[in-house]
Amino acid sequence: MGIEKTTRYTLTSLRRSFSSLVSWPARPQQKYTINKALTLLLGLSLAGCGGGSQSVLEPAGAQAYRIEDLWWLFFGVTGIVYLIVMAVVLIALLRSRREQKRASSDTQPDLTPDQQSEKRIGNVIKASVGLTIVILFLFMVSSFRAGREITSLYRAENPLVIKIVGRQWWWEVEYRHDVPSQNVTTANEIHIPVGRPVRLELESTDVIHSFWVPNLHGKKDLVPGYKTSFIFQADEPGTYWGQCAEFCGHQHAKMRFVVVAESEADFNNWYTAQQQPSVPPSTDLEKRGQEIFLVTTCTQCHTVQGTPANGRVGPNLTHIASRPYIAAGSLRNTEETLAGWILNPHASKPGVRMPMNTYSNEDLQALVAYLKSLK
Ligand code: CUA
Repeated sequence: MGIEKTTRYTLTSLRRSFSSLVSWPARPQQKYTINKALTLLLGLSLAGCGGGSQSVLEPAGAQAYRIEDLWWLFFGVTGIVYLIVMAVVLIALLRSRREQKRASSDTQPDLTPDQQSEKRIGNVIKASVGLTIVILFLFMVSSFRAGREITSLYRAENPLVIKIVGRQWWWEVEYRHDVPSQNVTTANEIHIPVGRPVRLELESTDVIHSFWVPNLHGKKDLVPGYKTSFIFQADEPGTYWGQCAEFCGHQHAKMRFVVVAESEADFNNWYTAQQQPSVPPSTDLEKRGQEIFLVTTCTQCHTVQGTPANGRVGPNLTHIASRPYIAAGSLRNTEETLAGWILNPHASKPGVRMPMNTYSNEDLQALVAYLKSLK
């Protein structure tokens, strides 16, 4: 942990000194503003849409800090190189114009090579090639170092293990327990305790997806028939949006998920609540809703623990009412959206696997009331 902290501190100070290099000779306050503005500008152009600060430039964990540091280093160095190249091109253009003007007034072009300037040009080319090699080497070493630091957590003892299955177009999330009946299965929502390493075991059942929470870690592909895993850790509590980052079909863009990083106590509360079987319906409307749920096609795809419904095709609905979003983070979980989704999921996610359903108004109301009771 000591080494971890020291490395992080070194990297942060490196980034600071680098930022000061970029914004030099600004005063500290200006420097901060420039840095923030730059982050905002880049964040706006790179972060994607909505759902808070879904950005690589706002890291919230050890791994994400490494990636951010690497990003700034690449951005800064390549930015400076770009500016130098542009300046040189501009100078060359202006010079050639001047030469052209001179040539038009003097009909005899001077073709004798100037030994000294030839030598100077040769030296400049040699120095540029040398500098390019040095820069590429610097990039290679820093990428290698960042990679090593990111994977240093792999030696962590007792990580929380979560299995993630990518499906078209949602995420199945499973917390394995030694007693299988105590497993927790949910969808599109991953709760993790702050400060504890989390190992994600990834797999896909259909096509290639890519798991990406920019604030916490880099991308990791989910390839059918090939299990992968990675370890990360959130150091700051918060809600971090993730997104499938590999085109996987019609609703790839609406294959989102959320990572909720919370205190150990909050996490344990959530986990214990999720382990419980579903809440039995209490009102007549909810009871009617459960009946409808159990006798119609819902059970073929969905599981509600504590009832005979045990389908594994769609998301587990045992505690659906506890999730703030449905349809892989694309709709808020309200009675209206739930009702609309049940009747015609294709209205908001065309091509989705869930079929359309026909219910009378009363039945639909009862069904929604039942689902909303599944806290
Ligand atoms: Cu799954 Cu894109």
